[in-house]
Amino acid sequence: MNYTLNQLQVFLKIAETGSITKAAEALHLSQPAVSIQLKNFQDQFDIPLTELVGRRIYITDFGKEIAEAVENIIHQVHAINNKTLAYKGQLFGRLKMAVVSTGKYVMPYFLAGFIEQHQGIELRMDVTNRAQVIDSLMCNEVDFALVSIVPQGLRVDSLELFQNKLFLIGNAGDRLKRGRKGNEIFKDLPLIFREKGSGTRQTMEKFIESNDIPALKRLELASNEAVKQAVLAGLGYSIMSLVGVKNELYNNDLQIIPVEGLPIKTMWSLIWLPNKKLSPVANAFLEYMREEKSQIIQNKFDWYEQY
Ligand code: PGA
Repeated sequence: MNYTLNQLQVFLKIAETGSITKAAEALHLSQPAVSIQLKNFQDQFDIPLTELVGRRIYITDFGKEIAEAVENIIHQVHAINNKTLAYKGQLFGRLKMAVVSTGKYVMPYFLAGFIEQHQGIELRMDVTNRAQVIDSLMCNEVDFALVSIVPQGLRVDSLELFQNKLFLIGNAGDRLKRGRKGNEIFKDLPLIFREKGSGTRQTMEKFIESNDIPALKRLELASNEAVKQAVLAGLGYSIMSLVGVKNELYNNDLQIIPVEGLPIKTMWSLIWLPNKKLSPVANAFLEYMREEKSQIIQNKFDWYEQY
């Protein structure tokens, strides 16, 4: 037996995901690289670890037992790394977060200093939409979530950061007739919506409904970045979070279209489950956030005030 740690990690990921493609994605490797590692690992056993049925890969019973042992080994390897760091008096372990799509323009600024202070911390940050973020939180898959609308009906603890502002955003080469008032501005306006489950979509729909805005031409795109690119390309307009269009506004590629009732203001909040036993890393992060948030907001989000 002469397997490497790398082979063990690759095999474990294949066993966890049940797919070479997904394992490759999760490990940031190419599919051929993962297949080669799997083959090299398999070559060291006389009994098959996996089998291909159609185009799907299945882990054999023997493979499952090996995967279990591998998981323990990987665990021990992490423990060795952690012990070394603990010996040096450093904080170690994982910090797991889920953030809504426009949270990717917010959260890194609150993480940078903390990660720099604690080199032993492994960060995992999933960027999805509101529904999925709340799911991960409820399933206890993450330590914290970043949302701009705190979920109702779910008991959470929260730390408020700063205001989220949503404006009607259009391409700078906007062909809207100036002088249109109120709801008229929306006539014939192709509006771009996010996918179901998005908090931005929820906010946008509520605004349209409560302002009796007439039925509009609609397009639907599945991420904030896709909506932004579509608006830039002149495909339509959308109600978007200010935080995600900073550079485009500065560069005059996008513009805010003034509309009564906008901006809609919500609150960026870090949330977590109240009964969750926070890890030492998560506790340290919360403490850091409480102490540093005002300074970070002042340093990194002062541009916000002009809108
Ligand atoms: P989402 O996030 O549109 O990516 O779901 C918006 C929010 O909750 O602020």
